[in-house]
Amino acid sequence: MITFTTNYAKDFFETHEFEQMELAVKTAHDQLHTGKGPGADYLGWLDLPTADKDELSRVKQKASEIKEHADVLIVIGIGGSYLGSKAVIQALSHSFMKKSDAPEVIFAGHHLNGEYIEEMFDALHEKSVYVNVTSKSGTTTEPAIAFRLIKHWMEQRYGQSGAASRIIATTDANKGALKAVADANGYTCFVVPDDVGGRFSVLTPVGLLPIAAAGFSVDALLDGARSAKQQYDHPSLLENESYQYAAFRTLMYAKGKQIELLASYHPKLQQVSEWWKQLFGESEGKDHKGLFPASVHYTTDLHSLGQYVQEGRRHLFQTVIGVKEATKDMTIPYSDSNEDGLDYLVGKSLNEVNEQAMDGTLLAHVDGGVPNVQIEVEQLDEAHIGALIYFFEKACAISGTLLGVNPFDQPGVESYKQNMFALLGKEGFEERRKQLQERLLT
Ligand code: PA5
Repeated sequence: MITFTTNYAKDFFETHEFEQMELAVKTAHDQLHTGKGPGADYLGWLDLPTADKDELSRVKQKASEIKEHADVLIVIGIGGSYLGSKAVIQALSHSFMKKSDAPEVIFAGHHLNGEYIEEMFDALHEKSVYVNVTSKSGTTTEPAIAFRLIKHWMEQRYGQSGAASRIIATTDANKGALKAVADANGYTCFVVPDDVGGRFSVLTPVGLLPIAAAGFSVDALLDGARSAKQQYDHPSLLENESYQYAAFRTLMYAKGKQIELLASYHPKLQQVSEWWKQLFGESEGKDHKGLFPASVHYTTDLHSLGQYVQEGRRHLFQTVIGVKEATKDMTIPYSDSNEDGLDYLVGKSLNEVNEQAMDGTLLAHVDGGVPNVQIEVEQLDEAHIGALIYFFEKACAISGTLLGVNPFDQPGVESYKQNMFALLGKEGFEERRKQLQERLLT
């Protein structure tokens, strides 16, 4: 379903360097699968493709209700609580139309901009609205504020009990402010398992409910992830392409590359790149280490960042993600006048041109000193996206372990929160507030 190749990076490392990583990879695999590595309390994601069927049927049932009654589903969440569902829904959706038998899925609570929420309400007049608020901790500020506003709006629109029947909370089984609000108001709740971190949670109700409500098959998504699980549970580097990707990144990092650019040629993969950036950025960027994960969308960005990639500082490598089989395509038509000089392309399809752009760019970037590896997804459907998710998650866990960090925590995310609480006057942060205000230039 997914292939990983290093054909265009061969000039940048010796075969023995790669092969010699076999032992380290095997050790990382053993640590992960025996739960002896760092972050062992957060390995529940490994088994999600084969998880609890009862919870899955509840998800599908609620999704059917949403599909039947809602024009719009607002998904409230930040980080791992929205990026996965947004990525999958974009990858599977028509570029311009939602599915006819499903609501439009929109997102809130992933930033603090007031204009956005006000304009969202403007757009919801006369629409039937459901809300899925997601927060594993139940205490994250951005979604909590968005939810307070949206809850108020829903209650004004539908009354307290009407709103309660349209709000679904996905959160911890027992603790957190969101769980308390959900219980007090009688919302339907779904559980984020304790042993699954936010950025590894797309195959829990966090991702599955919005994806199913958008009209996509979560069974097929999980089937794909299940077959990937089988494939990527192999301990050997030579047999496991997810581990090969992890090993390659590690090798590039050891050779001084500091940035990994995920380059896609398919606009439907834009949000997959956002999800991928969070997965790798939050998992690896710690202890003053880690590749910086960035993304480019070609050929669009060949007219912006392309210049830098070709000739700028040589501290990056590129992972090109492509889709093999397109379901739709357009053929370039004949023109009598050939005024635009494009007759040499007559009869070729747009995807063929895109492919040549990809091959041409790949070779140019290699010539420019940028190692390129390729990940190819056979097609964009639920099963392949499910497999891709598992491919990246497994690679991330192994790559983080090889780097010597705990891939499953995110202590650095706390720093800005503490400062924000202090500046906003939250109780208990008075001393910090004084210190920060002294440092802020007025
Ligand atoms: O991966 C993570 O753990 C984080 O990115 C979280 O998903 C993010 O901070 C949101 O947290 P929560 O779901 O607790 O609101």
